[in-house]
Amino acid sequence: MCGIVGYVGRKSATPVLIEGLKRLEYRGYDSAGVAIIRDGQLHLCKSAGRIAGLEDRLEDHPELAAGMVGIAHTRWATHGAPTEENAHPHTDCTGRIAVVHNGIIENYAALKQVLEDKGHTFRSDTDSEVLAHLVSEFYRDDDGGDLPRAVQQALSEVAGTYGLAVVCADEPGMIVAARKGSPLIVGVGADEYIVASDASAIVEHTVNVIYLNDNEMVVIDEAGLRTLTIDNVPVSKQVQQIEWSLEQIALGEFEHFMLKEIFEQPEALRNSCRGRLNMREGRIQLGGIEHLSRELVKTRRIILTACGTAWHAGLIGEYLFEDLARIPAEVEYASEFRYRNPIIEDQTVVIAISQSGETADTLAALREAEHKGAMTLGVVNVVGSTIARETDAGVYLHAGPEIGVASTKAFTSQLTVLTLISLYLGRRRFMSETTLKQYMEELQAIPDKIETVLAQSDAIKQAVGACVDHDNWLFLGRGYNYPVALEGALKLKEISYIHAEGLPAAEMKHGPIALIAEGMPVVFVAPRCETYDKIIGNIEEVRARGGTVIAVATEGDDRIAQYAEHVFYIPDCPPALQPLLTVVPLQLLAYHAAVARGCNVDKPRNLAKSVTVE
Ligand code: AGP
Ligand code: GLU
Repeated sequence: MCGIVGYVGRKSATPVLIEGLKRLEYRGYDSAGVAIIRDGQLHLCKSAGRIAGLEDRLEDHPELAAGMVGIAHTRWATHGAPTEENAHPHTDCTGRIAVVHNGIIENYAALKQVLEDKGHTFRSDTDSEVLAHLVSEFYRDDDGGDLPRAVQQALSEVAGTYGLAVVCADEPGMIVAARKGSPLIVGVGADEYIVASDASAIVEHTVNVIYLNDNEMVVIDEAGLRTLTIDNVPVSKQVQQIEWSLEQIALGEFEHFMLKEIFEQPEALRNSCRGRLNMREGRIQLGGIEHLSRELVKTRRIILTACGTAWHAGLIGEYLFEDLARIPAEVEYASEFRYRNPIIEDQTVVIAISQSGETADTLAALREAEHKGAMTLGVVNVVGSTIARETDAGVYLHAGPEIGVASTKAFTSQLTVLTLISLYLGRRRFMSETTLKQYMEELQAIPDKIETVLAQSDAIKQAVGACVDHDNWLFLGRGYNYPVALEGALKLKEISYIHAEGLPAAEMKHGPIALIAEGMPVVFVAPRCETYDKIIGNIEEVRARGGTVIAVATEGDDRIAQYAEHVFYIPDCPPALQPLLTVVPLQLLAYHAAVARGCNVDKPRNLAKSVTVE
């Protein structure tokens, strides 16, 4: 979902900006551009398609090679086709002000009409271009030209969301940046500053960052950096440190980030548990919610809200809270929850789950819950992200940066954290010390068990080869493994473009069984559990109609091999922890299918890593 990079410092800006855009590529985009201020002039270069195309273009524009102030953008089109003309940066009529923007200007049509009536000429079909002309309108009006003030006045006219950066040829050493609803952070280096959509574009220059809140802006110039609200009220901001390093976002020996992150899961889960499993005293330690533990223990209802894969984690969370903490729980799609005027009674806790911490629908759902008086918790990966900062409390995943668009290690880390919270509350309610200790030992053993599942990657790759030409798959599971079936279907869909549907296994006979045709791949998530015999019955129903059965089962289960063409085994563990293991073969299955079909695994078509628009 778009990327913004701005630079002011002593280096040539263009290489810093281009490298920064490459670090943000994983967010998804369709075009890119850069604007540099040099010798009192604004120089622009834009390109549809990949950043490599922009680099080719830059070779024909030596005027952008120097210059120490600039802004750059990768666009994920919402208004106007992904063309060069619609790529950012956008300039005003004078060609001296340039803007890059992430988000949607909802009242752009009305603003555009007013500006055209004032004589402004538009060159693109985008909503964002109005920002350049609006800033110019106020900049021209100001005597002496005050870019920060002009940006504030322009934003006071705007309805919608933005993360934006502005430069002006008449203010050569300055960048003005602001945010409302789309992420923006500022790297504070030695005599240099980098504005970016997220820390991956900053970390190679500095680990010192400032996180902007909505309606805040930053002005960077020769005097340094100052932060204020868009209403011109100074704001003091704390410089924080990025927790991870550049090598963590490097590909290493893996062919794709997705595969790297699938194989990082054992370490990611160890990190999610680090400092939180006090085995000696037999208790869970969650510093991020400790101060609310008394209220949390009295919770009468938990609502989990999220999107996509995070929603699947929330569905497993629903089962975990009811099973381990005996608290009524439900999961809601954030995009539905935010608009349906939800009922929030007293002692309701709303948990927002989000890897990026910037998903627009999840953020809006969180704000709706807060507006109605709920206590809110965040289960988030990106430290300092908007959702993490707007919840009353939370538990970070500590999974490390997730670059692949398809979420894998963040999903299992979300499950781990939801399990920790469920056990934390369960022990304060009805769970015995003995039971808690058993779960803690089982949870501690999961990372090594994932390693044994990862060792089957080649076998999964072989099995996929026989099925990858089928364009319709079913994924079926029961209990804790029903949401895993949903997640397996989503993984396959989003990176291999094969249509797949996840269902509770028992639901198949209520219609979808009509789909079963000769050779149709049907994946059963069928580890040992109380409904195992029922799922064997479902498998036989599929076999009787010629379907090809692929099963995920518990080690030592010889019975299921009689019915399935392929079986991938997981080590035994309690049902509540099975999803941490059963999802791994499905992640690998999707990955190998996508590679076999020649798909762009890390940057699937039409997708963005963080959906910061609605
Ligand atoms: C997962 O593979 C997808 N990329 C997508 O469904 C994602 O989980 C969803 O957009 C939510 O993102 P978030 O966790 O950053 O809020
Ligand atoms: N709405 C703007 C456009 O379509 C910005 C989209 C984005 O966030 O990249 O150009």
